[in-house]
Amino acid sequence: ALTTNTCIVIGGASGDLAKKKTFPALFGLYQNGFLPEGIRIIGYARSKMDKDTREDKRWTNATPPSRCRRAVGAGGKGWEATSEPHVKMTRRECVTDDPRAGFTARPLLQDFHSRVSQYIKTPIPALKEKLKEFLERCTYISGQYDQDDGFVELEKELKRCEETFEDKKSPNNRVFYMALPPSVFTVVAANFKKHNYSKDGINRIIVEKPFGKDLESSREMQEGLKKEWKEEEIFRIDHYLGKEMVKNLLVLRFANVMLDASFNKNLISNVQITFKEPFGTEGRGGYFDEFGIIRDVMQNHLLQVLSILTMERPVSFSSEDIRDEKVKVLRYIPEIKMDDVLLGQYVGNGDKPGYLDDETVPKGSICPTFAACVVHINSPRWEGVPFILKAGKALNEQKAEVRIQYKDTTSGIFSDITRNELVIRVQPNEAVYLKMNSKAPGLAMRTVPTEMDLTYKRRFSDLKIPEAYEALILDAFKGDHSNFVRDDELDIAWKLFTPILHEIENDKPKPESYEYGSRGPAALDDFIAKKVGYKRSEA
Ligand code: BG6
Repeated sequence: ALTTNTCIVIGGASGDLAKKKTFPALFGLYQNGFLPEGIRIIGYARSKMDKDTREDKRWTNATPPSRCRRAVGAGGKGWEATSEPHVKMTRRECVTDDPRAGFTARPLLQDFHSRVSQYIKTPIPALKEKLKEFLERCTYISGQYDQDDGFVELEKELKRCEETFEDKKSPNNRVFYMALPPSVFTVVAANFKKHNYSKDGINRIIVEKPFGKDLESSREMQEGLKKEWKEEEIFRIDHYLGKEMVKNLLVLRFANVMLDASFNKNLISNVQITFKEPFGTEGRGGYFDEFGIIRDVMQNHLLQVLSILTMERPVSFSSEDIRDEKVKVLRYIPEIKMDDVLLGQYVGNGDKPGYLDDETVPKGSICPTFAACVVHINSPRWEGVPFILKAGKALNEQKAEVRIQYKDTTSGIFSDITRNELVIRVQPNEAVYLKMNSKAPGLAMRTVPTEMDLTYKRRFSDLKIPEAYEALILDAFKGDHSNFVRDDELDIAWKLFTPILHEIENDKPKPESYEYGSRGPAALDDFIAKKVGYKRSEA
């Protein structure tokens, strides 16, 4: 474990992921004393910002023209002069290096500290103080991703930080966190290795999806990464593995004899793993359109949940034993076919815009924002049990849950009883509940559906549920790979979905429309009923 002298470098520190997830998680850990004592955090990205130790004040005095607009042609990053009078800009927004802009505005220095603390909540004064202390440990270096200079500067900054460590005897460890777009992923990983690898201490690299777009691109990316980094140094994040309830799956199964004994084809009729979000792509459509919901959520988050839920009991709780079993169960799944999938895309509902109304989405896109898919596991334990994976944006609610539906009770002595169902709600409002039948209290013999309910808020009201990213970063610091994706696991996940992803790209099937805020495509209930051979009244 990394205990004392550690620097963490955040590649892509000016991006969305870093400010929304990485820095808040680092602060959460810092505030609770979970980061190594000497921890220093260095942001690295292209944008000019202050707290850059090489502050360049020339950039701050830009005077943009009164009229300019976004130059989409310049990758959406630059600005150009325009004769359209309706576009107003503030000085802060006016950023260009593009000679076509016709004016001399240059990137403004943004305040790195205010950017990274944007999503950090400090409701009490003591936390404000803690945040100040945390920020004192955060510096920033701007540099290109594909040129040496920036990484040379970064190395100097790393050395400067390491000089501040009180413990002069222990080796200096370095963690590299890649919050970067896939296009620069391999080159940055190579540059970190070339210029910034610690010679005497421990080195780790934390990487974030998207891990490619299909089996081939994923392999290419992983090979690039593995040229420079050893598998034991690599921590591939799937943040669902850091969620409290996903981590609970192993305990629920293997520490409860009655659940463990019931997890098989004899008792279980079908399993549904659902991810729903009540908002659309909202300006993130440009990114989303390249990937679609299957790559964005299903091939990774939902498949991870599926593999933990269905794996055999590992030999031990070691990360390799756990991941061996996850890979094994995934290998029992046959390739997914087009007939196993229902695709949807949301349309406007009068109030909220449809997917195609998002200006960042290409016209006429057939990218699915909803998918339902049936998966079979041909293992002795699960043969014949349909697993339905469902994921969608712009639906009626936010929910991630696993719903395990047991078979009908065979005894015919009761009429009007419902099936047992075990529901594991990942979010929001974590809960595990088992739907059961009970006698309605009273003189008559009447059954009533009831629940054995473990709602976390009630049962564990005094405990804070950690954020997924906090849990994962802490694991990476400890060197525990259990909740990270191994290379062979990633490979097999892509193998399952690549054929249909290619088929969708080639044949361009039109997704079924569903209204923003609805339950999904109208065909969903019939699709599920057909695949599981049973119709439930409520989804
Ligand atoms: C990300 C996807 O991996 O997960 C997003 O790219 C999605 O599209 C997000 O919104 C959901 O994460 P969470 O933790 O909010 O359920």
